[in-house]
Amino acid sequence: MYSEKVMDHFQNPRNVGEIEDASGVGTVGNAKCGDIMRIYLDIDEDTKIIKDCKFKTFGCGAAIATSSMATDMVIGKTIYEAMEVTNKAVMEALDGLPPAKIHCSVLAEEAVKAVSYTHLTL
Ligand code: FES
Repeated sequence: MYSEKVMDHFQNPRNVGEIEDASGVGTVGNAKCGDIMRIYLDIDEDTKIIKDCKFKTFGCGAAIATSSMATDMVIGKTIYEAMEVTNKAVMEALDGLPPAKIHCSVLAEEAVKAVSYTHLTL
């Protein structure tokens, strides 16, 4: 029911953790299941390129896998490009998710969009 890529990112999640003194932090809750996601971004002040991105979640396996992929996808992009990364693109990169788990994939996208920047003027 889960693709090999989903299982890989669930079992070996990339970019788990926190960034100390992050440029921005975004936290969202999932209206459907109540799970929580927090994303940390380290951004180059001049280029606005995301140098590092980490996440922590109380979400399920699908949330872990999609956040792992989403954080991989936004690293190296500018913060403006990262805003364009949709949960659909993340799901496609993971070769799909079961329909009942699509709401889990929204957490990472929403958390990136919810980031408030502490040390940065955009
Ligand atoms: Fe809550 Fe998947 S069930 S994030």
